[in-house]
Amino acid sequence: MDNFNYYFDNIHLLGIQGMNKKTIQSILERAQYFNQKKKNRKNKILKDSLVINLFFENSTRTKASFEIAAKSMSADILNISVSSSSIKKGETLIDTAATLNAMHPDFLILRHPNSGAAEMLSKHVECSIINAGDGRHEHPTQALLDAAVIKEEGINLEGLKIAICGDILNSRVARSNIYLLTTMGAQVSVIGPPTLIPKDIERMGVKVFFDLNSGLKSSDIIMILRLQNERMDGSETPSKREYYSFFGINENNLKLAKKNALVMHPGPMNRGVEIASLLADNNEISLVKKQVEMGVSVRIACLEMLKLSRNKLLK
Ligand code: NCD
Repeated sequence: MDNFNYYFDNIHLLGIQGMNKKTIQSILERAQYFNQKKKNRKNKILKDSLVINLFFENSTRTKASFEIAAKSMSADILNISVSSSSIKKGETLIDTAATLNAMHPDFLILRHPNSGAAEMLSKHVECSIINAGDGRHEHPTQALLDAAVIKEEGINLEGLKIAICGDILNSRVARSNIYLLTTMGAQVSVIGPPTLIPKDIERMGVKVFFDLNSGLKSSDIIMILRLQNERMDGSETPSKREYYSFFGINENNLKLAKKNALVMHPGPMNRGVEIASLLADNNEISLVKKQVEMGVSVRIACLEMLKLSRNKLLK
């Protein structure tokens, strides 16, 4: 492993909040480097390391992406999926963690429906925790991969006009992206129905719009989010059809944004609800596939970063 400097002094990756610009820049740069070498990716960075994927919520992309990243770095990986219905808030997590801790993993990648779960876990184990999504709170590797894709398109984050559209209230992807993008000097707008936008979100340095007409204007990129029904009580949205007619993005209303504007979506997509199927499949405009691809490279960079800081801090 060459000694790439991430300027990062923590053995855990819990969120983007508080992460400095230099660290973000380093991760993006390194992810782009790994992305170039994707055909020849096997390295020994995590040889003799044990990585555990501990997922208390469903996941296709994120779990597979961490697994591929860890394997390509020669780690041993164990996948544990726990159905969310079996969680007895908090207690099960700590109990499970204590058991896993006794197996001496080096990294524990956690997805959990409770906001703050990753941070809580980090206080009970010796290994490095990576937050792969905790409730509505944060999903740091998603925001990092989104930013790496934008950079890979040759677009500067500084001065970028980006609109995040949809269910902001329930989205950890929105929160991590807002922290990252504002830190890097982008101008961020959020668009959605008032019921799905947190009341004090302006404090995060974003502009709020309740309709596509004004919200999309002069945007370079539109990041589209899913209605996260699993975190709703049913009162927040009208029918899916009605939602689509007001906030669904298609090739037609995309014209409200800048010419050549691009769209992103973290997946899973609900076609015909927040995004039109034709737009989702239009690879000239949609960066969705590139997001999945970059996911692996970003996770390799994050695992390497934590390995380096473990070496440095736990000496
Ligand atoms: C997101 C998540 O789980 O927060 N998905 C992902 O990680 N790719 C977004 C979502 O579930 O809508």
